[in-house]
Amino acid sequence: MPQQIKRLIVAFAFFILLFLVLRQVLKPSSFGDLGHYRADAIQENIDSELHYAGIDNCSKCHEDIHMDKAIGFHANLNCEVCHGPGMKHVLYAGNFTDRQLPDSLLLYKPVGRSDCAVCHQVNAARIKILFDTIDNSMIRQIDAMTHNPVNKRTNEKLNCIDCHNPHQP
Ligand code: HEC
Ligand code: HEC
Ligand code: HEC
Ligand code: HEC
Repeated sequence: MPQQIKRLIVAFAFFILLFLVLRQVLKPSSFGDLGHYRADAIQENIDSELHYAGIDNCSKCHEDIHMDKAIGFHANLNCEVCHGPGMKHVLYAGNFTDRQLPDSLLLYKPVGRSDCAVCHQVNAARIKILFDTIDNSMIRQIDAMTHNPVNKRTNEKLNCIDCHNPHQP
């Protein structure tokens, strides 16, 4: 056998061995237990903290608002779409009924014009609603810059919620 081939075989054997050793050392312990992935990853995902509680949880304590909302245009919106993730609030706010909540349990209140504009601002890329009969499921669009920006008598700046009830707009 020519010498260069012998050297190649030795080099190959060395690298294959190195690969096997490294693989054994670096492989996560639970890899392959259930399939071609790390079995521990499942438990780690189960253990991760929950942030959103869902509308059914909100309604337990805020039945009145839930009822208001259920008969209005915002009936299909989840509370946390506007108020942000509320899991902590759901778990602990009950201890503070009729009292000021500590800061860590307060939820975001979308009182600004820009908060409503997130969904309602005119967007040229959206399909226009030509007739009510075509598609009532489209979100109505206004231009937040020009749609009732100020009180004409006092020239005071107006927020959307000065005129629209956010839970029943
Ligand atoms: C265990 C009962 C309970 C649950 C469940 C609950 N809340 Fe509350 N929430 C309260 C209490 C108590 C307050 C404080 C004052 C009061 O009585 O309204 C409050 C206040 C609020 C406020 C006003 C906070 C502020 O900044 O003044 C908002 C907004 C709110 N809740 C939204 C939600 C949303 C959204 C959910 C669902 C993710 C939810 N709540 C679930 C009990 C609850
Ligand atoms: C379209 C966005 C939006 C949605 C959806 C929404 N809220 Fe609100 N919510 C607001 C705004 C804006 C305020 C602040 C109102 C104010 O300060 O006058 C508010 C205020 C509140 C308050 C404080 C008390 C009050 O009446 O001012 C509570 C409690 C509350 N929301 C609970 C809920 C719950 C429960 C849901 C779901 C059933 C929900 N909200 C869905 C926008 C929303
Ligand atoms: C997460 C998206 C979202 C946000 C945020 C939101 N809305 Fe809406 N809004 C909707 C949807 C969906 C409808 C129902 C479809 C429709 O009628 O446009 C609606 C309907 C409305 C309507 C009735 C329109 C009509 O058909 O006459 C008004 C008024 C309105 N919203 C005002 C507000 C105000 C004020 C805020 C801020 C407090 C707000 N919305 C925030 C999604 C949103
Ligand atoms: C001065 C009171 C006032 C303020 C402030 C106000 N609106 Fe309105 N809004 C109205 C009235 C009245 C109507 C119904 C007549 C019309 O279409 O102009 C309306 C209609 C709407 C509609 C339905 C439009 C349609 O095509 O049917 C939406 C959506 C809306 N407003 C969202 C908002 C948002 C978002 C804000 C804040 C950026 C806001 N409004 C601020 C009084 C107000």
